[in-house]
Amino acid sequence: MSQIRGRFNKDADKLAETYTASIQFDKRLYPYDITGSIVHARMLAKQGIISEQEAQTIIGGLNSIKKEIEQGKFEFKPELEDIHMNIEARLIEKVGEIGGKLHTARSRNDQIAVDMRLFTRDAIAQSIAEIRGLQKALVDLAEANKDTVIPGYTHLQQAQPVLLAHHLLAYFEMLQRDADRFKCCRKRTDILPLGSGALAGVAYNIDREFLARELGFDRISQNSLDAVSDRDFVIEYEVATSLCMMHVSRLAEEVILWSSAEFDFIELDDTYATGSSIMPQKKNPDVAELARSKTGRIYGNLMALLTTMKGLPLAYNKDMQEDKEGFFDTVDTLLATLEVMASIVATLHIKTDNTTKAVRRGYLLATDLADYLVKKGESFRTAHDIIARLIGYAVSQDKTLDMLSLEAYKQFSPRFGEDVYSITVESSLAARDNIGGTAPKRVAQALANARKALEESST
Ligand code: ARG
Repeated sequence: MSQIRGRFNKDADKLAETYTASIQFDKRLYPYDITGSIVHARMLAKQGIISEQEAQTIIGGLNSIKKEIEQGKFEFKPELEDIHMNIEARLIEKVGEIGGKLHTARSRNDQIAVDMRLFTRDAIAQSIAEIRGLQKALVDLAEANKDTVIPGYTHLQQAQPVLLAHHLLAYFEMLQRDADRFKCCRKRTDILPLGSGALAGVAYNIDREFLARELGFDRISQNSLDAVSDRDFVIEYEVATSLCMMHVSRLAEEVILWSSAEFDFIELDDTYATGSSIMPQKKNPDVAELARSKTGRIYGNLMALLTTMKGLPLAYNKDMQEDKEGFFDTVDTLLATLEVMASIVATLHIKTDNTTKAVRRGYLLATDLADYLVKKGESFRTAHDIIARLIGYAVSQDKTLDMLSLEAYKQFSPRFGEDVYSITVESSLAARDNIGGTAPKRVAQALANARKALEESST
């Protein structure tokens, strides 16, 4: 910490030094820090603030530091606190006094803001790419099983038949909105903060348009205090991640339920299941369970950062250093979860014999029977009541609806005729022929639309 302790008479306390250091976690910002510094040095030279020769020396030094880090030869020092000072100190070590000119017209406050924005921009692109991967796995699974019917549930009770593809495409839609949210968040991340200095702007003739262009930023921050003191773009990323993880967690939950002996709709690939150390019969869905549980951590990181930021006076406060660990964990967890869930979906096997049995076993056609009576002139409420009693009777006889005789039907309503037997799972599905419904031709269209959206999507 030597360079910035000039006005102090004592060295920092060891414990305080360790407590304040962020290098153990912010070192992963090094590529962004170096890119930002190289562009800054070029700008300083272009503006005549340092000489062209000095800029070249600095840039050469920064590039070789980057290599050292990549090759694992760089020694990160906690006493140098953070990534900015570790790199700067090494630069001065390598190129001498000139290295000290890099920090002209800059502060660590706008430096960390630019590093974080560059990092977040990449994290957004990767997140969208991983979302696309999971969406593709869902569409592939839907297409490979496009005739499979499952019971649809409400209250986790069997409700009406739906195509498995329809069910899977529900997740496609959720993920579509998640990707959109990341894109929106990118708009507000893609703003250059560099040139804001410590808080008030810088007293040099800098060129912020050049910095923005060279670093690929869309816009330039319009208030120096705001630019160094907000982390709302990090929070937005964490909000978008929380929603996405919530969706993925529900998918994970269904994978877990469906692989249980009670449902038995799917078989997980052996590579995504774990054995029990005591019960040899078990095939545990650990990976999906962890995907479900890690969602809690993601919410926790969001709450932590919101809480950290809520009472901070303008402008930069050291509290903001606490944005990083939770944020990095959020990014890593989201990317890993999306990737692993895509693999689970891509490798699982649908047990169609069991889904067919489940559809037959339940009284999933009850609504269709009520609709049948309505078409014969009954009011829906009365029809509902008649079918409820009819099902009660079928349950007491341990019979499915197609096993009931016409006489039995007629005991509940004289409106029943032979054509009641034409009410089938197929007719039930086909009848739901509206936009967003589960009729096979609607689902085929939805699948084609999803496939097209995936092909057209760029990150
Ligand atoms: N490590 C710091 C952070 O992450 C960098 C900015 C430090 N600025 C300062 N004035 N101490 O927030």
